[in-house]
Amino acid sequence: PTVAVLAGGLSHERDVSLRSGRRLSAALRAQELTVEEWDVDASLLERLRTQRPDAAVVALHGGEGENGSVQTILEMLKVPYVGTSSQGCRRAWDKPTAKALLAQAGFATPAWVALPHATFRELGAQGVLDAIVDHLGLPLILKPDQGGSALGTQVVREASELPAAMVACFAYGDTVLAERFVDGIEVAVTVVERDGGPRALPAVEVVPESGVYDYTSRYTAGLTDFFAPARLPAETAQRVGELAVAAHRLIGLRDISRTDAIVAPDGTVQFLEVNSSPGLTETSTVPMAIESSGTTLGEVFADLVMRAVS
Ligand code: DAL
Ligand code: MG
Repeated sequence: PTVAVLAGGLSHERDVSLRSGRRLSAALRAQELTVEEWDVDASLLERLRTQRPDAAVVALHGGEGENGSVQTILEMLKVPYVGTSSQGCRRAWDKPTAKALLAQAGFATPAWVALPHATFRELGAQGVLDAIVDHLGLPLILKPDQGGSALGTQVVREASELPAAMVACFAYGDTVLAERFVDGIEVAVTVVERDGGPRALPAVEVVPESGVYDYTSRYTAGLTDFFAPARLPAETAQRVGELAVAAHRLIGLRDISRTDAIVAPDGTVQFLEVNSSPGLTETSTVPMAIESSGTTLGEVFADLVMRAVS
């Protein structure tokens, strides 16, 4: 089959997506698939309609590629594709929604509040900031409610840092997710659907040199140490895998996903977020997890392409 690998786009994560797309395309070609690399722009719908690839693989990150928009176009045109449905993407992309779904099902997730910008106009900045610190304590972490690659994420250790951190985070969107910061072992857990149901691959432990897994630590080789599999007791590794499979199911993800979690000092596994289109770059954890499980990125994705077209 002819496979269009959709990458690039216009989100903040364009560069990351181009790297994911290049690596994935090479891996699929090595499996003898015919691959076209498409840099996604406003001509996508027309291009899909006229060129009709046998399948598409969404290697877009952020914005239209992860909020369900591109998936809606693929669904409208009935182009088979690898990855989560538009509906599942909408749930995964919105961090407060994903946290609420996991919390309702009984999983631990750091305490949080979602703050639309309008809250500040209604209550006054100082009132909001005081309420956040009262409710969540310090340190805390601010994240754009919809975003990726840690862009806009701010760790706040002192109340005096909060106003500037808020401004920096609002630069990425209309709503900030303020979350209690848990200083534990950060893990990324890949879930793949093969031979039946979703299965968790061994967790990858992420240890950034700077202490914060920000954009630079993520995508600069050598700035983060990765342990695949994570250095966790067997029982904790088991719970981390169960959390990731539960997140995949509860949020309605398909084919492949990555759940990010923290193992807190007290041993609890805390859900952070789930990624419907996880990074596939040289420093991304999904390819590491796949390789540590004894297979290759190309084999896994070729298998998912065959499932999509069958
Ligand atoms: N948002 C980036 C690509 C990731 O989750 O890997
Ligand atoms: Mg993410």
